Amino acid sequence: MLGVMTVKDIQRIAADVADSWDDVRWVETIGSTNTELLATGKPGSVLIADEQTAGRGRMGREWVSPAGSILALSVLVDAPLTDNLGLASLAAGLALTDVVPQAELKWPNDALLNGKKFAGILSEADITGDSRRVVVGIGINAAWRAEDLPVDNATSLNLEGIEIDFDEFTIDLLRALATRLEQWQTGDGKLLENYRAVCSTIGKTVRLERHGGDVEGTVEDVTDVGEILIEGTAYSAGDVTHLRPAN
Ligand code: BTN
Repeated sequence: MLGVMTVKDIQRIAADVADSWDDVRWVETIGSTNTELLATGKPGSVLIADEQTAGRGRMGREWVSPAGSILALSVLVDAPLTDNLGLASLAAGLALTDVVPQAELKWPNDALLNGKKFAGILSEADITGDSRRVVVGIGINAAWRAEDLPVDNATSLNLEGIEIDFDEFTIDLLRALATRLEQWQTGDGKLLENYRAVCSTIGKTVRLERHGGDVEGTVEDVTDVGEILIEGTAYSAGDVTHLRPAN
């Protein structure tokens, strides 16, 4: 791996996003930023790590997070009093496309460049007693050598010709996250309207791998609670493979 990505000035990042995020921390190494923030953070907190030793992905998978190759961060926010917790993940995916406008989203929130995944999002809720909090974690492949990428069909910003300044990119992403997560918290209809415009899964023939059995069909829409609608049936979770465009 290239090993070049790291925070240059965490104080500056914190100052630039202070309107939205009131506790912005950076650590060199940690198990998982999501786990740590859920355990110790308050809403409005951000945790950025150079390296995660136990980074977690969707569907119980590992998220490989070596120092210098990825931007790994989590934010903790209050969850609104609705059932729309799944929309937090969609909001975060949309924030990614706000800062990487060339990207498309594969439902629910894999960010793709030229059909390959460069970023993933894992949202986890803590709804217990009086607590209604959601942690949204984002891992972005930013500086990899192609031969070191951990899975097939992955890519990295640098491999797609996008060189970022780590601090500037982090500031832009945190601002976009604040805007999109506020849309989620306030039930702003623009969120889904904008999501549907960048979700390249809509209209495609897909395979959805899910615990209850795989499904193949054409994706008609993403519902108002963020589910994928395949030929009349809505599904809330699963792994999508784009098979071919619909005729
Ligand atoms: C996926 O595509 O499977 C989701 C990957 C999410 C990875 C990020 S990195 C920051 C945060 N901390 C974690 O342990 N996971 C998320």
